[in-house]
Amino acid sequence: LSPQHQLKLVLLGESAVGKTSFLRRFVNADFAEKWEPTVGAGFLTKTFQLYDKMIKMNCWDTAGQDRFHSLAPMYYRGAQTAIVMYDVTKQATFGRAKIWIRELQRQAPPHIVIALVGNKIDLCDSNIPDLHNSNDHDHFGFAEHEEHQDRQVTKEEASQYAAESGLLFFETSARLNFNVEKVFTEIAQHVPVE
Ligand code: GTP
Repeated sequence: LSPQHQLKLVLLGESAVGKTSFLRRFVNADFAEKWEPTVGAGFLTKTFQLYDKMIKMNCWDTAGQDRFHSLAPMYYRGAQTAIVMYDVTKQATFGRAKIWIRELQRQAPPHIVIALVGNKIDLCDSNIPDLHNSNDHDHFGFAEHEEHQDRQVTKEEASQYAAESGLLFFETSARLNFNVEKVFTEIAQHVPVE
């Protein structure tokens, strides 16, 4: 058996940007259209292989609603990795993501690996590359009932901010399973080896 490395991951971001959906997509390979706000926090684990190692990710899915803000330090304490998520169709959620990043950079463990993730690109991008290779595409195609929405945060703006702030950066769709696994594997690859 390969040695198993355990990593603690915290997911932060404004309410309804898709944190729970993103984590469920990665861990359970499913997606729910209905939004049920997280209360307090959720916890899910997933073990996956990365080269010759088994990585066990212990993921804390925090609640985005403001009334839960004060709980966040409990979840990023001792975390080696973090995902800060925003919704590419809502500029205000990008502003909130920057505030989370500043908080993590001040208060979280110093070598924490942070990924900035712009989710819901399916709402504004009808030609996502490699979309048709996504495993669950047959089940979760474009949402007929969902309106096209204008993008409010450009990829350039966000990737430039991420580069300046020393963050990994991805755009994703939890709904279409686009780039989801990549976020977790790249985060794991960037954790300094003890
Ligand atoms: P809190 O628990 O309140 O912090 O919210 P959250 O960030 O966990 O959001 P959640 O995952 O519950 O998703 C909110 C809504 O967005 C749900 O209706 C989801 O179906 C929808 N959603 C999540 N990810 C995507 C996505 O990639 N694309 C689209 N179109 N909708 C998404």
